[in-house]
Amino acid sequence: MPTIRALSALEILDSRGRPTVKAYCELEGGARATASVPSGASTGRAEAYELRDNDPARYGGLGCRRAVANVKTEIAEALTGRTFTDQRELDAALAALDGTANKSRLGANALLAVSIAFARAHAAELELPLYRHFADLVGRPLRTLPRLTINLFSGGKHAGGQVAIQDVLIVPVAARTVDEGLAAAYAVYQAAVGLSAERYHARALTADEGGLAPPFEGVEAMLETAVAAIERGGLAPGRDIALAVDVASSHFYRAGRYELDGAELSAEQMIARIAQWVARYPIISVEDGLAEDDWAHWPTLRDALTEDALTLGDDLLCTNPERIERAVAARAADALLLKVNQIGTLSEAARSYALARDAGWRVTVSARSGETEDHWLADLAVGWGGDQIKVGSITRSERLAKYNRLLEIEHETGLPVTTWPND
Ligand code: PGA
Ligand code: ZN
Repeated sequence: MPTIRALSALEILDSRGRPTVKAYCELEGGARATASVPSGASTGRAEAYELRDNDPARYGGLGCRRAVANVKTEIAEALTGRTFTDQRELDAALAALDGTANKSRLGANALLAVSIAFARAHAAELELPLYRHFADLVGRPLRTLPRLTINLFSGGKHAGGQVAIQDVLIVPVAARTVDEGLAAAYAVYQAAVGLSAERYHARALTADEGGLAPPFEGVEAMLETAVAAIERGGLAPGRDIALAVDVASSHFYRAGRYELDGAELSAEQMIARIAQWVARYPIISVEDGLAEDDWAHWPTLRDALTEDALTLGDDLLCTNPERIERAVAARAADALLLKVNQIGTLSEAARSYALARDAGWRVTVSARSGETEDHWLADLAVGWGGDQIKVGSITRSERLAKYNRLLEIEHETGLPVTTWPND
């Protein structure tokens, strides 16, 4: 059983140049590990609290020295020398030590970094690859690798708002391996670079998650250009490559209206617009089609999409068990976007995952817009059996760290990519 010998932390920078937390964990048996945590930009209001220094003289207030100090002092003092039978016990101790509902005292960034560093050190002590240890934590066999959902075009908060919706992603639905999926994505990405230059005189500059961000006239142009890129890449839209969208609509929802492409839409009009996109383009997943507080209309959205696309909740659910239970009861969604740092420990995220699975939902395991070179997310998506993984574009190394780790896991295990929903 793992006994903590030492815990420490360091402030490092994420892919947007903003501070985040890296934790160090050493066990009595000598196993050691580190883990770095990501951070979002288009955050849901119900997310666990990221502790920042609020010192305007340093990183505009975004410093993480207080979170780091919490690991090195209070958390280390409380946990050093203690033996934990499993991850759940460690995570319960972290949550109890913090004592708040949203991890605001010690910081979810501090707690999650320790939670994952401990999991990694424990895996090292057991001499298990991290993905296998993650599978054991939730008691499920390793069967498949997640299907890739790769950011092609960005808008919204990740690209200066040149178009309202946040991501158009390509989904290599025909690929049976990560390797094939990435090769197909490369062909589409290169075609999209060409189309962005021809149609918008836009250079291949990248947004927060590595996507291209030409000045599209509106959402339809964004989707149409994605389909054209698939075709120019020599692939069949829908059959080889489908699309997914993150509408991230909480961020253009004001006073009950959706401010989209210069129009102010009611929820019913917004749902009709999304249904039109799904009818016209090969979209198989719609994330945050409605705002995080627009609970009344989510069931209508789900009914409208149910035959064709997932109704995927990110800001709506915030990987929060209570919100997921509410959404299951209300039939507000049928898929969970799982971001561990929205809830703050691995065990609570595992509970969210289990609730979604028990309801028959699909799960997309997701990175954040502010990422690090750490790649535990790839192990998590494989270990927990996520249907899809969303880590951004195939450019920028904080994204590639996860894709390259998936390639490694594929090489090691020979597991196939899940064939849903084409099987
Ligand atoms: P975020 O965006 O990491 O900036 O919150 C990702 C998403 O909305 O899916
Ligand atoms: Zn989202």
